[in-house]
Amino acid sequence: MSKNIQKLQDKIAQAHLGGGEKRIAKQHEKKKLTARERVEYLLDEGSFEEIGILVTHRTTDFEMDKQKFYGDGVVTGYGTIHGRLVYIYAQDFTVFGGALSETHAEKICKVMDHAMKVGAPVIGLNDSGGARIQEGVKSLGGYAEIFHRNQKASGVIPQISAIMGPCAGGAVYSPAITDFTLMVEDSSYMFVTGPNVVKTVTNENVTSEELGGASTHSTKSGVTHITSTNDIACLEDIKLLLSYLPQSNKHTPDKLPFQPGDEHREALETIIPDSSNKPYDMHEVIKGIIDEDSFFEIHKNYANNIIVGFARLGGRSIGIVANQPMSLAGVLDVDSSRKAARFTRFCDCFNIPLLVLVDVPGFLPGTDQEWNGIILHGAKLLYALSEATVPKVTLITRKAYGGAYDVMNSKHIGADLNFAWPTAEIAVMGAKGASEIIFRKEIKNAEDPEQKLAEKEAEYAELFANPFEAAKRGFIDEVIMPRDTRRKLLKSFSMLENKEVLRPNRKHGNIPL
Ligand code: COA
Repeated sequence: MSKNIQKLQDKIAQAHLGGGEKRIAKQHEKKKLTARERVEYLLDEGSFEEIGILVTHRTTDFEMDKQKFYGDGVVTGYGTIHGRLVYIYAQDFTVFGGALSETHAEKICKVMDHAMKVGAPVIGLNDSGGARIQEGVKSLGGYAEIFHRNQKASGVIPQISAIMGPCAGGAVYSPAITDFTLMVEDSSYMFVTGPNVVKTVTNENVTSEELGGASTHSTKSGVTHITSTNDIACLEDIKLLLSYLPQSNKHTPDKLPFQPGDEHREALETIIPDSSNKPYDMHEVIKGIIDEDSFFEIHKNYANNIIVGFARLGGRSIGIVANQPMSLAGVLDVDSSRKAARFTRFCDCFNIPLLVLVDVPGFLPGTDQEWNGIILHGAKLLYALSEATVPKVTLITRKAYGGAYDVMNSKHIGADLNFAWPTAEIAVMGAKGASEIIFRKEIKNAEDPEQKLAEKEAEYAELFANPFEAAKRGFIDEVIMPRDTRRKLLKSFSMLENKEVLRPNRKHGNIPL
């Protein structure tokens, strides 16, 4: 065997060992897979092709020239998931704690550049102690090179980040720019500054988990879109998520085979309660419309008054935005507006048609909401739905009140087809509130004000708590029976498949942020 062949084999064997057996054992003790094990699990068997396995860092300070590991703490390359090309990088915590050096960053940038040239998703598996402390500003430059690529790739190729260990300091800004962030429960955390700095600056005592664990970011901040119970579940979630997405903004998502049958859904007839103030679960409506078991919810535990997620309708991938009457009566507030706006924009970037299900009593009142900018955040959702050029279909199941009627994909902001169930109430506000304002004097002067209010409420409800006024004006294209909804929507999205909208040239719009 030639000397170089032997050398190559030795180097590859060393690279496969990462930071060594001891550190691999430590990784396993924490119930975490190694970078290579993650890549192997995520990609189709035998499909991984590594790029840059022999790269090492160039630092000589702090005797770093005596500590070199092939790959320099990140495994990079490409492969396939269910036969589709993806680019991947997985940080190797066993090498300098996965810390990012100049060369480590160069490797990540290289696969991102490839992905942009070819038009395929990039998946980043993050598990890192942050900037390589021994490298200083070189490492910071490396981060910024990645961030800049994240921004340039935004809306061109899907970018998915999984946080499978630490992700702190500057490192958080790459996942934040990407389209989806997944976190593994109990073994991952993300924060700009850790508990020690927090203690020094604000005197708060907080653990890493409380500050930036999966539960915190999935319920409080909304930073993470999906949480998974362990590494394997996280990798499975990435595969599932990817199945709804196209390769790039030049493609549409793969359509699954679909054979139309009896598309009536009697179960939809009995979901809306008799009283308009009673809640019901919008998930039941979604279930009654979409292909069986096809709903993949995003931001499941954040801003529960709105539901967003991917589903299939006749095998086609669609995005769903739906008010949830079970939570805060489905009202729009700061968090739900941001959540729905971001999801809407993702779908629009990647040619995923939108179905908007409406049961909204309006915007949440109060100082908390006003001082936190509900005007701007609500406008964000309005802007996002208004600018989207993908097929957009709306169904009003019950309430569509006030400005929220306009925002929730009304005909006026460019929805292609607007349906309503006979239970829809499309009005400026609820009958009680409206009567209290416009009949205030009459009610006050009545012998029995309560009785008068009830009368006026009934009168107002009779006149406006229905979909017919809106249908008369063409704001609603058709009032449909709930059982026909799936059939109607199948036809609508099929009819809209080749929709094309031309917009005047501009650098970019100025969405309220
Ligand atoms: N730069 C260089 N090496 C780093 C590093 C960094 N940012 N973060 C961790 N490492 C190294 C450690 O020196 C250690 O090396 P060793 O295996 O040779 O002993 C190895 O990675 C594992 O780190 P360790 O601290 O033992 O792991 P842990 O699980 O106990 O803690 C962290 C993980 C991330 C909490 C901890 O390493 C840490 O606080 N790192 C620094 C974070 C930071 O401030 N980054 C810079 C700002 S972005």
